[in-house]
Amino acid sequence: SSIQVLTGRTSLQAKLERALHVKRVIVAPGNSDEQDWVKKEMSRACVDEMIQTLGEGDVVAVAGGTTLAALAAAVYPHARLSNVTFVPARGGLGEDVELQANTISADLAKQAEANYRLLHVPDQLSETAYDSLIEEPGIRELLQLIRHPRMVIHSVGDALSMATRRGSTEEHLQGLETKSAQSEAFGYYFDHHGKIVHKERTIGLQLSDLNEEQMVITVAGGASKAKAIASYMTHRPSDLLITDEAAAKAVLDTL
Ligand code: BG6
Repeated sequence: SSIQVLTGRTSLQAKLERALHVKRVIVAPGNSDEQDWVKKEMSRACVDEMIQTLGEGDVVAVAGGTTLAALAAAVYPHARLSNVTFVPARGGLGEDVELQANTISADLAKQAEANYRLLHVPDQLSETAYDSLIEEPGIRELLQLIRHPRMVIHSVGDALSMATRRGSTEEHLQGLETKSAQSEAFGYYFDHHGKIVHKERTIGLQLSDLNEEQMVITVAGGASKAKAIASYMTHRPSDLLITDEAAAKAVLDTL
């Protein structure tokens, strides 16, 4: 019956909260790897959280990817969102334009009839270019917003799949493999202890910027992401994990 189904997911939520040391977990039905509607379900839960948490003048830093693209498609205008500003969490990471954080942030704002700011930085920055770019007044001002948001929304990917999708060199891929990278989230790569093993050089939110003042929402589903979710979540700041049933079960099996 539907009550049993609900109880099953509720107990998965509680088990994951304990296993991953995360305050709250929401488990949507299904498997994002196989069914397109699952990302929509996870997105709906995320939109509910946004509406409950956000208000006047809040800044929301968002990452890129297909999960966040589904979130942009699912959001709708609401009084609590109308004076919110969406910003990309970090600059270019080598994604195709439709999956870039800039695009997702603008799409979210358009769908929600809210505001957005774009961060224009090239993907592969030399150290010198990086150093001078962050001193630009326009960029500095925007970085202030990006690095102290009210909410951060991002997904997590399998390390090697993400590096491949972003057109990494063979050398980079091998480096990640050598360092046993398992997961990736906004340009940071982690091993299975949750240790940072690589960080892309781009400007924007740094993991070390995050503290109790932000609500961090991680949206990631699909059994194929189980190891990545476990790797990222164990030691990283996240107040809420929104996942799906297939990933939840697979995560519990990996731990
Ligand atoms: C993004 C994150 O939100 O989603 C990435 O910045 C993450 O770090 C990626 O790996 C996952 O992409 P997808 O397409 O699986 O949602």
